[in-house]
Amino acid sequence: MYSIYYTFSMTKVNPNFQLLQREYIFPIIDEKLAAYSNLEIVNFGVGDIAYPLSKTVALAIKNAVDEMTSPEGMHGYGPSTGYDFLKEKIIACEYENYGFTKDEIFISDGINTDISNILELFHPETHVAIPDPAYPVYLDTALMSGKKITLLPCRKENQFSPDFPKESVDVIYLCSPSNPTGMALTAEVLEKWVAYALEHEAIILFDGAYEAFITEKNIPKSIYEIEGAKDVAVEFRSFSKSAGFTGLRCAYSVVPKNLFLYPLWKVHQNTKSNGVAYPIQRGAVAALSEGSNNVATYLKEAKRIVDCLNDLGYTCHGGINSPYIWWEVPKPYTSWGFFDYLLETCQILAIPGVGFGKHGEGYIRLSAFSRSENTTAGIKSLKELQNAFCHRT
Ligand SMILES: Cc1ncc(COP(=O)(O)O)c(C=O)c1O
Repeated sequence: MYSIYYTFSMTKVNPNFQLLQREYIFPIIDEKLAAYSNLEIVNFGVGDIAYPLSKTVALAIKNAVDEMTSPEGMHGYGPSTGYDFLKEKIIACEYENYGFTKDEIFISDGINTDISNILELFHPETHVAIPDPAYPVYLDTALMSGKKITLLPCRKENQFSPDFPKESVDVIYLCSPSNPTGMALTAEVLEKWVAYALEHEAIILFDGAYEAFITEKNIPKSIYEIEGAKDVAVEFRSFSKSAGFTGLRCAYSVVPKNLFLYPLWKVHQNTKSNGVAYPIQRGAVAALSEGSNNVATYLKEAKRIVDCLNDLGYTCHGGINSPYIWWEVPKPYTSWGFFDYLLETCQILAIPGVGFGKHGEGYIRLSAFSRSENTTAGIKSLKELQNAFCHRT
């Protein structure tokens, strides 16, 4: 719990920080892990990449750094919203038939930054709807900025696609494929959300951090595949998971010109950002030319984990269009109880579903950002669990 935000002097802190109620799970997990420091842990926990950067991308970055050592090739501050060469490449590779111009693409250092910053464009009384469970940054930054919040439960009964809000909301976060459930929204569901946004004059903030993992045909990779979306939606994408850029930092937002947000976002980015490093943007171009090199490998690991859980008689979701597997914890465990059980019995690290919101209780998230040998060790341990439960889900 956050409890340190008090006023120590005449300078007052932002009181919204005291609204942050979430149990901050990573320090708790680190503390629990410390007790196992002498054991080999199978890491199915982290949502970070497991395989190194592609040589092609690394070379593009190196060449760009070299270029900067010459008077002709030096680069100082770049454009706040990114170099045209990257914007043009993004349009050509990702949005060829959507009619976007490069001004509508805003390069940044990460979706995390964008998805938080964009809340600054909305009135303080804006009503924000957030899926539950979800990537924790949505809720925490909405709380920090003092927005009114409605949570949209994503449960097994609704195929983990967020319920429509009962009262009218102004902003809706959607994440497809979802972290943490690993489930993706179908075209039919997205059509309903776009229709909702058009009817209620709401804005959809569409987080496509994992679009590169989509394998099924009826799952849109972009919200702009849905008619009318350009009038209501902002899309966020990142090179973090698709090209192994978590440690390099490069992402982008797509803000259509006809949205009232467009001029505000432009001013925001021009004022608050000095752009992303030139070599990193060159690396991003190389990543787009090369395609998502490790995505197929992570999806293979996901399939191995899903197949193992299914063979053992457990119920899990996701892992088809996503690196995440949402495992229904066997009865009578809670998320945290099963977390402890997996760690103690199999030395497997997973993330308790409740860490992503209260509707994550009863689930645990496994991440397939896993090297093949790590997956093999995890599968072996899981098989040893086979006889441990009387009750299977
Ligand atoms: C759903 C989701 N959105 C955004 C991010 C952050 O992306 P970036 O690395 O571009 O900041 C993550 C990272 O795990 C994520 O899971």
